[in-house]
Amino acid sequence: MNSRYAIFKNKKVLVTGDTGFKGSWLTYWLHLLGADVYGFALPPERDYDHFVMIGLEKRIHHYEGEIGEYSQIQDLMKRVQPEFVFHLAAQPLIRRSYREPKLTLDTNIGGTVNVLESVRLTPSVKVLVSITSDKCYRNKEWCWGYRENDELGGKDPYSASKAAAEIVYSAYHDSFFSGRPQFGAASVRAGNVIGGGDWSVDRIVPDCIRALQAGKPIELRNPHATRPWQHVLEPLSGYLLLASRMYNEPVQFRGSYNFGPDTREMHTVQDVARELISTWGTGEIKITRSDNDPPEAGLLHLNCDKAHHILGWYPRWDFRKTVEQTAYWYKAVKDGEDAHSVTRQQIIEYMEN
Ligand SMILES: NC(=O)c1ccc[n+]([C@@H]2O[C@H](COP(=O)([O-])OP(=O)(O)OC[C@H]3O[C@@H](n4cnc5c(N)ncnc54)[C@H](O)[C@@H]3O)[C@@H](O)[C@H]2O)c1
Repeated sequence: MNSRYAIFKNKKVLVTGDTGFKGSWLTYWLHLLGADVYGFALPPERDYDHFVMIGLEKRIHHYEGEIGEYSQIQDLMKRVQPEFVFHLAAQPLIRRSYREPKLTLDTNIGGTVNVLESVRLTPSVKVLVSITSDKCYRNKEWCWGYRENDELGGKDPYSASKAAAEIVYSAYHDSFFSGRPQFGAASVRAGNVIGGGDWSVDRIVPDCIRALQAGKPIELRNPHATRPWQHVLEPLSGYLLLASRMYNEPVQFRGSYNFGPDTREMHTVQDVARELISTWGTGEIKITRSDNDPPEAGLLHLNCDKAHHILGWYPRWDFRKTVEQTAYWYKAVKDGEDAHSVTRQQIIEYMEN
């Protein structure tokens, strides 16, 4: 096993949002590393979600619950007594946040408060990684990457909820966590993550795959929007590395970190669709735009100097490899390969890279 992740063997780890796209990859990765993993989330939304397809429920201790209900997460934390907590549970879709602003704000801010408060009252927890988003920064549509100390803010309810979750995290950090020399807490901000097994609505890769599988053109609303695309394993490797560093030296490594792709890897929505088509083998693109579409941010990317210099974390897969691995996952599973084996193989390949 790669030594940078050895710390997790036999450790109790709680992951909120384990039924989701990123949470299921993280949970399975921790399981592969020999951790004793506990998950807390709403039930999976579909019978073909990544969580279901890789049989995660049988491999870990999974609990269904509502992150907005403080007693549920607090009871679980008391019962499990985890050493590590990764908080990912959230309503993560911008377009849905316009339709359901209150649900988004309640889940993303209230859920974070509940996790932080439970962690505060559970002395077994040595490390907390709270996942927010690159959208937590006030988007100034400029050419520079956002740094960890840039202004927070958000025009849409999702971005605002993540900026607010950061402020809540910061208050808990300054008021309670920074005085504990044996405890390491961090908030982490990653960009647009892609990879196999994501079926969310209004996300570029699932939308493309649904079109390709149906033999229909891929419809792009915003083809020239640039995003910091990265494979799901990239930020997850950053979260794991940060958690392991904080376990050993909490005071030195705690704080906020960006995890994004190399700046030369900024690509448009249209680039992603083209690469997917190229690995898939067939498909076409159709540009559509409706006046009813909510506004979307244009340029947005992260400055990751802090993760490079302090953690020694660097992305490993370039844009082409990222999209290739993503398309391969969907195609292999559609062609009858076992999803669990494909996911396992991709994680092992990533660790050996
Ligand atoms: N996917 C991305 O590109 C991306 C980019 C930046 C940040 N993020 C952040 O990463 C995290 C995971 O995102 P994802 O893409 O895996 O999302 P996802 O929608 O696939 O998963 C969300 C998870 O949160 C759980 N959840 C949602 N509402 C809940 C509630 N009320 N109670 C309990 N659990 C609840 C869901 O059950 C699911 O397990 C989120 O915090 C998201 O904001 C994602």
